[in-house]
Amino acid sequence: MPEADQSEPKQFRPDVPQARTPFFVKGAGAYDWGMQNRLARIFRPDSGRTAMLAVDHGYFQGPTTGLERIDLDIAPLVVHADALMLTRGSLRSSIPASMTGGIVLRASGGPSILKDLSDEQIALDIEDALRLGASAVAVQVFIGGECESQTVINMTRLVDAGLRFGMPVLAVTAVGRELTRDARYLGLATRICAELGAQIVKTYYCEEGFADITAGCPVPIVMAGGKKLSERDALEMAYRAIDQGAAGVDMGRNIFQSACPAAMIQAVAAVVHEMERPERAHQRYLDLKAAIDRGRQKSGKG
Ligand code: R5P
Repeated sequence: MPEADQSEPKQFRPDVPQARTPFFVKGAGAYDWGMQNRLARIFRPDSGRTAMLAVDHGYFQGPTTGLERIDLDIAPLVVHADALMLTRGSLRSSIPASMTGGIVLRASGGPSILKDLSDEQIALDIEDALRLGASAVAVQVFIGGECESQTVINMTRLVDAGLRFGMPVLAVTAVGRELTRDARYLGLATRICAELGAQIVKTYYCEEGFADITAGCPVPIVMAGGKKLSERDALEMAYRAIDQGAAGVDMGRNIFQSACPAAMIQAVAAVVHEMERPERAHQRYLDLKAAIDRGRQKSGKG
């Protein structure tokens, strides 16, 4: 039994109004505490942005180069990422439960690369996302694709389930090979996802008009990485996206297929959170890589 609290006077400060801190994630001010708290596990409150690592590629294309051993090659990178985007299979089997960053769980699937990729269904029960401590669920939306409406409805069903439990939905605007990744298309796709309830939208960078896409989307846009570029070019693309209003990146191949993924993810995070200029971020990458290589040689692992 604690002793009676008899200290006087109490500090009620009746003249000071209740503190009200506006929530920092774009478009998320009207959500409940749980939804906002999950978003704050993805977007860093100090910068308002996220450096997310996407490693969910296996859900439709099997053992992708760089992801053959998620336990050995990806688990050590987790400390450098604000959030990890992956499947529940990889999470349970290959990522230590001691991780503390955000988890964005792949929640759609169905077709492999051998079939029409847009023919996806919801492939995760919201209950399992809660059981795993997910910070958000991710769904592919194929605007203009063969199964466009089906994928939009997958997203809205997840949004409805997410709203019941405070679970944000990240909509990935998936672009079929036949479609052009220009501002007109990406603006259409991102806006549809946000209008229909997604709390985060992931899309590709485009050279012309990207700032209009981020301005016209009422929720945060995170930039997808796309196919492997040189480290310098990937950092340049990330910088431009952030400079033009992206609230972060969700990059995969440009990190895990880099010559030094641990150095690359830290360089990307510097661009995202510190707006490090591409040339300086690239130098940071080279310096970190050299230090990591030296450490490996010393330990006989190089
Ligand atoms: C692709 O459909 C998956 O959602 C990936 O996580 C992601 O969009 C691809 O990442 P990246 O293009 O950066 O390798």
